[in-house]
Formats: sequence, C-alpha cells, structure tokens
Amino acid sequence: MDKNAPLITDLFVCWLFVSAMTTSGWAAAENINKQKELLSSLDVRSRPVLCNETALLLEMQWCGDWFKREMELIPQRNWCNLSYFIWKYNHFSNCSEDKAVSTGCYWPNPLVENYIIHVHRLFFSNCTLSHVVLVDPPDYMLTMLIFVPVFLTLAMVALVVWCSKRGDFAA
Ligand SMILES: *[C@@H]1O[C@H](CO)[C@@H](O)[C@H](O)[C@H]1NC(C)=O
Ligand SMILES: *[C@@H]1O[C@H](CO)[C@@H](O)[C@H](O)[C@H]1NC(C)=O
Ligand SMILES: *[C@@H]1O[C@H](CO)[C@@H](O)[C@H](O)[C@H]1NC(C)=O
Ligand SMILES: *[C@@H]1O[C@H](CO)[C@@H](O)[C@H](O)[C@H]1NC(C)=O
Repeated sequence: MDKNAPLITDLFVCWLFVSAMTTSGWAAAENINKQKELLSSLDVRSRPVLCNETALLLEMQWCGDWFKREMELIPQRNWCNLSYFIWKYNHFSNCSEDKAVSTGCYWPNPLVENYIIHVHRLFFSNCTLSHVVLVDPPDYMLTMLIFVPVFLTLAMVALVVWCSKRGDFAA
C-alpha cells in the first residue's frame, strides 16, 4: 500500500470538512440575504430601529414628571392607598411602555426598570407590605423580578457579541 495513503486520506477529510464549512457558510449567507430582503420588503414601521437611550431617558422623565405632579395632588397620608393612585400608576406604566417603543427600545428594559424603581422609592418607600401588596411584591421578590430579566438580557448580549467575535476570527 502507498505510504502516502494516510496523508491523502487526511487531506481528503480536511477538504471534506472545509467544503462542508464553506457550503454551510454560503447557505448561512444566503439565508441572511433572504432575511434582509424579507425585512426590507416589510413595512418601514416594523423595521427594527436602534434604541435611542438618550431620547428614552428624556421621554421617561416626561412620564415621571407627570406622575410626580399627579401624586403631589394626593395628600401624602394616602400615598400607600392603592385606590388613590392606581389609575395614575397605570397611566405612568403605559406611558413608559409607549415611550420605550417609540424610541425603538424594548419594553421592559433595564433603563426603564431603573427609572421605575427610582419613582417607587420616591413615593412608596414608606408603604408597608399589607398596604400595597397588589402593587409591590416583597423586596427580595422585586429584586428577583428585576434582576433575572436584566441578567438574562446581558447574558444574551454577551453571547451574541462573543459569537460574532468568533465569527470574525473564523472568516
Ligand atoms: C437620540 O435622541 C436625542 C434626543 O432626542 C437626539 O438629539 C439624538 O440625535 C438621537 N440620536 C440618534 C442616533 O437618533
Ligand atoms: C383607601 O381609600 C379608600 C377610599 O378613600 C378607603 O375606602 C379605604 O379604606 C382606604 N384603604 C386603606 C387601606 O387605607
Ligand atoms: C395605553 O395608551 C394607549 C394609547 O396611548 C391606549 O390605547 C391604551 O388603551 C392604554 N392602555 C392602558 C392600559 O391604559
Ligand atoms: C417616609 O418617612 C420619612 C420619615 O417619616 C419622611 O421624611 C419621608 O418624607 C417619607 N417618604 C414618603 C415617600 O412618604
């Protein structure tokens, strides 16, 4: 048997591997192109927009200022009574969602959540659990509810960045 046979086998396997990689690369590129065509054929409004955090913060401030003005109309002793502020709170929440969407951001997102926590601190820090149980879960629960999605978001972003870095090296 030819002593070069193992080398040829190796080269053949290597060639198979490379051609498989390039084929799948082409397939992936083709897929991406198809997706791009699909996206550009969609309505302008449904295209993903980059989140403008500066604009979002300004808009959130607007929602927050409205809520603060409304809360100040309520005597402070009633700040923990849900029936006095629930519609204002709903409006505030709705406002923040609207603004997040209109600035091209996801909702909820860490920026909006931080702002809402800030507003909670301003008005509901003295409320006991029994008074606002329908609005505020216990602190540890609130922390979990906020940090788990934030953490997952960061993890996904890190994963995507990591993957695209690897993609760059491979290319
Ligand atoms: C983001 O919003 C701010 C304030 O509205 C604006 O000045 C800025 O140009 C915007 N940036 C982008 C990239 O759209
Ligand atoms: C909240 O306000 C409503 C209306 O004034 C009152 O009926 C209710 O008893 C109050 N609840 C608490 C927990 O103070
Ligand atoms: C939120 O606001 C939009 C319009 O700005 C309105 O159509 C919608 O009913 C509101 N939702 C709530 C829960 O208030
Ligand atoms: C909470 O209580 C402290 C001390 O009584 C008071 O100074 C503060 O204004 C209160 N804050 C709210 C949001 O009610």
